[in-house]
Amino acid sequence: MNGTRMIGTGTNGTGNGSELAIETEGLTCRFGDFVAVDGVSLRVPAGAVYGLLGPNGAGKTTLIRALLGLIPATGRARVLGLDPARQAAAIRARVGYMSQRFSLYPDLTVEENLRFYGQVYGLDGDRLARRIAELLERTGLPGQRRARAGSLGGGLRQRLAFACAILHEPSLLLLDEPTSGVDPRARRQFWEMIYAMADAGTTVLVTNHHMDEAEQCDRLGMMLRGRLVAEAPPGEIRRRYAGGGSLGEAFARLAAGPGGFSA
Ligand SMILES: Nc1ncnc2c1ncn2[C@@H]1O[C@H](COP(=O)(O)OP(=O)(O)O)[C@@H](O)[C@H]1O
Ligand SMILES: [Mg+2]
Repeated sequence: MNGTRMIGTGTNGTGNGSELAIETEGLTCRFGDFVAVDGVSLRVPAGAVYGLLGPNGAGKTTLIRALLGLIPATGRARVLGLDPARQAAAIRARVGYMSQRFSLYPDLTVEENLRFYGQVYGLDGDRLARRIAELLERTGLPGQRRARAGSLGGGLRQRLAFACAILHEPSLLLLDEPTSGVDPRARRQFWEMIYAMADAGTTVLVTNHHMDEAEQCDRLGMMLRGRLVAEAPPGEIRRRYAGGGSLGEAFARLAAGPGGFSA
């Protein structure tokens, strides 16, 4: 599937990196003495689908939370040109966030969840009703509008969480392991929704640990123990770290190397 999407050809500035949706310089997050994110310098071009990979505990979720201004960080960060330390509310108004555990209300219906999130984002009246109808259609959920979110299977729940995250038409999506625990078919459908957003100009940062999905990103960043240890398009990562072999091999080698788990 990789290669079906062309980046750097449009007006979104991905070609020369002139426009960055996310830019950090030495971003660091500490929990007491523990350094969860360690001097990360990240550049995510506007319009790109950027995959952030790394084993559990690498710091991916913490990094995302710092970008949203949910936790304090040192170093420099700009998200859509805004500073998470001072402009968190403005960032959240323009960013769609799908957290690792899909923050849905299990007792509310599909439609009620959408209405709730829409209102949180300041949508109401006709605009909200239109947007809900549109998203139910787009995510294939119209038949489930009156079903309680807690009764949905993994794939449908994931799509509902996605719909909630994009209600306010964000220009940047932060998706934290959106495809963990769902079957391959649901994962494929989910990636189609990601591509549709990206084709419409939305920047997507997605964390995951499925190598086949990583292969479909425009760029990849590999995190290990809080550090960003590699960052390039998938083909380049394979060439550089696995002599053209698989991404899995490349990451195994990175993990075993300096800064990796066995270092
Ligand atoms: N609120 C917290 N307090 C203390 N330690 C934390 C907190 N949140 C995360 N951590 C630690 O930070 C490290 C990175 O966690 P996380 O960002 O969740 O990694 P990932 O998302 O890559 O699995 C882990 O060792 C985790 O235990
Ligand atoms: Mg995580």
